[in-house]
Amino acid sequence: MNGVMCRSVEHVFKTSAGPLKVLKGVDFDAEAGRLTMLVGPSGCGKTTLISIIAGLLRGASGTVRVFDEDVAALPAGRLVAFRRRNVGFVFQQYNLLAGLTAAENAAVPLVGAGAPWPAALDRARALLDRIEMTPHADKLPRQLSGGQQQRVAIARALAHEPRLLLCDEPTAALDGKSGRAVMALLRSLAVRPGRAAIVVTHDPRVYAFADRVAHMEDGKLVKVEAGQACAASDQT
Ligand SMILES: Nc1ncnc2c1ncn2[C@@H]1O[C@H](COP(=O)(O)OP(=O)(O)OP(=O)(O)O)[C@@H](O)[C@H]1O
Ligand SMILES: [Mg+2]
Repeated sequence: MNGVMCRSVEHVFKTSAGPLKVLKGVDFDAEAGRLTMLVGPSGCGKTTLISIIAGLLRGASGTVRVFDEDVAALPAGRLVAFRRRNVGFVFQQYNLLAGLTAAENAAVPLVGAGAPWPAALDRARALLDRIEMTPHADKLPRQLSGGQQQRVAIARALAHEPRLLLCDEPTAALDGKSGRAVMALLRSLAVRPGRAAIVVTHDPRVYAFADRVAHMEDGKLVKVEAGQACAASDQT
């Protein structure tokens, strides 16, 4: 089954200085069962592209299909339902809810998907434990370091086992060991048949976890390479 397919995607932001064309005809694929990394210089359009794929940013032209669904064509209500069911998103700025603890934040999407609170909290705590966050599970976001908040955001995105996981710089605030733990968790939950994962990163330490590395420059996809994880799994 197809994961994500983007063809000739263009996006223009309206700014006070006039229209700013940020995506200039992007062709991009993220196959199911693979982890695709999206890399490129600051400002080249990575966050814009994954926001369009998630249906969080609308108004782009071209084709964007997620598991064969034309996300741009979905009416707003159905898009919200599609996203809740299928998409996990780790934001560059974390976007945690300030009044909820780490475990509660991570449990929110599960509750949104219909799970009862106690079961959702249990699942959230189990995920947090896998990334060494158990001592911080009952703290509020403002009591957490940047790297700890980042790990809560990752647990939240993975909690309901979305078919598509989109992560914007998930290891930027993490040390090497925490970064590898996060990527291992991400691969174990998101890289399975019928699921796809896209990770935007500037962090060469995590390239080893990629099946594919897609390079963007100035609003275009310029190159796709096989990643190291792909080479490793192809040998088994
Ligand atoms: N809401 C917006 N309104 C106007 N311009 C925007 C908006 N969001 C992003 N841009 C511009 O679009 C371009 C691409 O931004 P984007 O956030 O996609 O880059 P990026 O590749 O994710 O960069 P980084 O690696 O720094 O996160 C930048 O020039 C940015 O200034
Ligand atoms: Mg960005």
